[in-house]
Amino acid sequence: MYKGILLAGGTGSRLYPLTQVSSKQLLPVYDKPMIYYPLSTLMLFGIKDILIISTSFDIANIQKLLGDGSHIGLKLSYKVQDAPNGIAEAFIIGKDFIDSDDACLILGDNIFYMGDQIRDFQKQIEKNRGALLCGYHVSNPKSFGVIEFDENDNIISLEEKPKNPKSNFIAVGLYFYKNDVVERVKKLKPSGRGELEITDLNLQYLNEKKLRFFRMCRGTAWLDAGTPDSLMEAAQFVQMVEKRQGLKISCIEEIALNRDFISLEQFENLIKSYKGNSAYKLYLERILSERKNA
Ligand code: DAU
Repeated sequence: MYKGILLAGGTGSRLYPLTQVSSKQLLPVYDKPMIYYPLSTLMLFGIKDILIISTSFDIANIQKLLGDGSHIGLKLSYKVQDAPNGIAEAFIIGKDFIDSDDACLILGDNIFYMGDQIRDFQKQIEKNRGALLCGYHVSNPKSFGVIEFDENDNIISLEEKPKNPKSNFIAVGLYFYKNDVVERVKKLKPSGRGELEITDLNLQYLNEKKLRFFRMCRGTAWLDAGTPDSLMEAAQFVQMVEKRQGLKISCIEEIALNRDFISLEQFENLIKSYKGNSAYKLYLERILSERKNA
């Protein structure tokens, strides 16, 4: 069974002054806080037991927003990362939480729009015997962890921010690991920039031929929202798709209902508890009446 870790720390320095008093992961991406997007991705994988890691400054606000998660059928817990010591540190902070389970890590600024391909992904997760990455074709691979692979999708190399990328496929911020990840992270040494690097962790698996990747196909979207431009582009993408379809992306209450994490009655009570008359609330009311009339 996979537990989820949502890493929502960091300084958000590339978004300053937006992040001077607000956590990056609480900034709006069109109509909802950024953290709803990675949280909903975990929910779509059926993961309900989730640890949220953030800074001592930001954690209280995230907790204020999401509480213990029971309103959407989740079990949320929280831990502080004292300093941005690297993505892989999440498994040291989350050691007791992971306990004897497997772990899925998602970065708090990663936005996925996978549609039905999530079912194929789920099948590959079930087959995972070591570490499973998620690969996406991008135009600017130099800024990411780059995956080189053969014609059978076997990974040949993985390089963090290489000068000469060997492919356009990069490892996005979504990783699935078997339980031994905790022991492996303990063996990592901080990199030149002083961080426990997720790529160094993944290279351990690669050296033992236990690293695979799931290839997100054309027609899906992966966005990160760490700079003013990428934040704006992500918001525009969400706005465009939602307006066109009349359906929301990453609406955590709707996903909780659709995945039977909560009953229709709980859904209705939840909507009643929401203040005001936002477009978001009106959308939830529409979903409720459609379900009642179905
Ligand atoms: O987004 C995918 C990329 O994420 C991967 O392709 C790279 O292999 C991986 O190293 C990572 O690269 P970035 O340079 O984008 O990572 P960054 O340092 O920006 O951190 C990503 C997010 O994780 C960011 O929202 C802040 C959070 N974070 C980061 C660190 C280092 C933490 O919460 N704690 C940390 O210690």
